[in-house]
Formats: sequence, C-alpha cells, structure tokens
Amino acid sequence: MKWLNFISHPTEKLQGEIIVPGDKSISHRSIIFGSIANGTSTITGFLDGEDCLATIKAFRSMGVAIEGPDKQTVVIHGVGKHGLKKPDQIIDCGNSGTSMRLLAGLLAAQNFDSELTGDESLLKRPMSRIAKPLTQMGASIGTDEGKPPILIKGGKQLVGIDYQMPEASAQVKSCVLLAGLYAKNHTSITETGVSRDHTERMLRTFAHPIAKSGTKIIVNAQSECKATDIQIPGDISSAAFFIVAASIIPGAQVLIRNVGINPTRIGILHILKRMGASIAIINERQFGEEPVADLQINYAPLTGIQIPEELVPLAIDEFPVLFVAAACAQGETTLHGAKELRVKESDRIGAMAEGLQILGIQNQVFEDGISITGGSLQGGEVNSRGDHRIAMAFAIAGAAASGPVTIKNCVNVATSFPTFVNTANALHLHVKDVIENER
Ligand code: S3P
Repeated sequence: MKWLNFISHPTEKLQGEIIVPGDKSISHRSIIFGSIANGTSTITGFLDGEDCLATIKAFRSMGVAIEGPDKQTVVIHGVGKHGLKKPDQIIDCGNSGTSMRLLAGLLAAQNFDSELTGDESLLKRPMSRIAKPLTQMGASIGTDEGKPPILIKGGKQLVGIDYQMPEASAQVKSCVLLAGLYAKNHTSITETGVSRDHTERMLRTFAHPIAKSGTKIIVNAQSECKATDIQIPGDISSAAFFIVAASIIPGAQVLIRNVGINPTRIGILHILKRMGASIAIINERQFGEEPVADLQINYAPLTGIQIPEELVPLAIDEFPVLFVAAACAQGETTLHGAKELRVKESDRIGAMAEGLQILGIQNQVFEDGISITGGSLQGGEVNSRGDHRIAMAFAIAGAAASGPVTIKNCVNVATSFPTFVNTANALHLHVKDVIENER
C-alpha cells in the first residue's frame, strides 16, 4: 500500500491572490436538485473533489445524464421528481457524509430499494440521526447499529412530520427536507441552533416553495423543481486554511476572490476577528441566492479567546485550522459545545490535540472541546487520520513552525480541495506531496 504524505516547510513570506474551489455543500446540492428538476441545469464553479464526484456517480447510477465536470462546469439533464430509476449498483458515497445523509432522505421516498455505503471513515459515522426522523415519516431504513451501510426499502408513502432537531445539523435538516418533498401533508423542521441553509436557498433557486414560520421551515410535496443555472461560490471552508495562514505568518497579505459569505458559514471570520485578525470583506455581491465577497487578509497578532458557543455550528468545519490559529495566539483559546467534532471524518478534537502536542503546543481536551495555550510551533511528524481538514490544517501549522512538519495520510485532501498543494505554493508556502511506499 502507498501513502500520500505532505511535508510543509516554514515560510517567510505569504503573499498573493488566489481563488479557491467551489463550495462543497452547494456543489452536492446542485447535483441533487438538478437531477430531480425538470429540464437542464448548468452548474459553473463546481467542486470536482471526490465527495461531489460520488454524488454525481450516485445520480448517474439512477439514470440521470450528467455531463462533466469539465473546467468546473457540469450539465445536468434533470429527470423530474419522479424520474429516478433503481440504481444499478450499491451507491458508494466514499468519504462523504453529505452524500450519504442527503441521499438517504431522497431515496427513502422513492419507489425502489437502495443501499448506501462508504469508506472506512464513513462506515463509523452516526446515521441514527437521519434514520430516526425518516422512520417517523414512514420510511423503511436499516442501519448496522446506527452506522452505515444504510438499507432503504422503497415504495413507502411518506407522511410529513414536525421535526424538532436534537442537534444543529444541516445534513439532518436537508435529509428531512428532501424526504418532505415527497411526503403527504407538510413537513416542518425546528432547529435547535443555526446550521448552514444552502438547501433552503437552493430550493428557492429551483423555484420550489419553502416557507418559514418563526423558527419552523416548512415544505410539502405539491410542487416540482424547475431547472436553472447556478454559479457556485468559492468554499469558505477551503479559504479558511489561507485565512488562518495569512493571520499567523508575519507580513502576510493575501486576497481570496469569490468566497461564499453565507451568514450561516462565516463563524470563522467572527472568531478570527475576535482574536484580532485583520480581515476585510470587500466587493460583496450575489451568486444567485448565495452572497459572495473577496477577502483581504493581512497579518495581525492574535490573542486567545473563549469561543462563543453560538458560533460553533457556523464554523464547524473550520475548527482544525482555527486550532492552529489558537496555537499561534497569545494566551489561551477555549472551545466548548463542539462535541460534533468527535464524529466528523475523524475525531477532530483528538486528532488535533495529538498533533499539536507533537508540535510542542500544550492543550487540554474536553469531551465537547479543547483548550489550547498559544506557543511556538515546532517541526515534527503528525497523522491526519485520513481526514482532509486535519491534513490541511497541519500543512498550515508547518508554514508557521520552526521546522518542517510531515503529515501522514493526506490522500483524502482530494475529497474537498484537490488543488490544495498548488494553491498553497502559489502563495509561497512550501508544501510538497510525497508518496511513501509501505514500510
Ligand atoms: C454539511 C453540513 C455539516 C458539515 C459538513 C457539510 C452539509 O455537517 O460539517 O461538512 O453540506 O450539509 P452537519 O450538518 O452534520 O453538522
């Protein structure tokens, strides 16, 4: 077996202008809604990372003709809400929790059976959170003690429910909304905390009614989705690595163009600004329903903070690299209310705590968070545990460290940011990918 590792060397200078690949969450949803829409949709700025390619493959296996991605453009020939066919194989979602959870909601309402599986990491992730509301709607969903694979028996007429979400999760919300597009009566969801609202925006983009009453989001089965063209903003979760890099490397000046600044995604900007970062949001505009801007980040010394819990869902994917910012800040940064980080592509609290310790940064772990004492990052060898965001976070740590950082097992960076190494090096970071044969 071969491993893909990164070696990240200390950087003196970080300067330049970049764009980052398309937003992963929006790319998935563009395929899902484009496939069940009536007519042809053209998507530009699509993220051709492995996660979104898994979603494309799933819909192809259900008879949807999808062209591309070719230069980040995808053309989807939608088959309408009732036009999907029984997949010709088990649907393999790879590393992608979003593919699995959103597809489960859609498939629960179809008139055919299906099965969803995934890689070693995805097979460990909790699925009861979607099985429970879908079962309440009348779906037949089987899991392996709450974990994938997911076995879905089709041909069930779903019935709308009023679902009170136990945790803030856009994947669960989207799963129930997708099932609700096929259910009798209306389906409503009440959120406990804010989670990303791309599904709601995308329903509007595809001209499908969606109502809001107080904290309730309501859909029903009475309408169709109408094909449309979509331009996908750059992914703030990918921009995050360079926003932090520019904030911790003295003298840095970085401009990142076309970044999605949906208010449910910009927790990282709020947190870094509270720590003292210099981030200017300029040239604000809309890509359809989604707000976009250019971000100018200049180095500024950071100070540790207590991260407000209400910001946690708005920055949920950015914590690995925010922990690197905390490692470079003066004083202590404390996070609580983030136990969801334990069940992402890896246990992100455990993975970051272990790696930061190796790089000389003291930290204390809690079940729902971490406390990090800022200090001097040193070189060393860390393990990404196969998690793309841990790998990229430690590549940024290497740029600010006193010696090179080797990061093991980085192949999954291709799930969300296949051009990460090139983009990093375009800004004068020194990140190399190295193939290591089994020792
Ligand atoms: C996502 C929602 C988030 C996020 C994931 C993508 C989405 O997960 O961590 O990377 O596209 O809906 P949860 O909604 O489960 O917190």
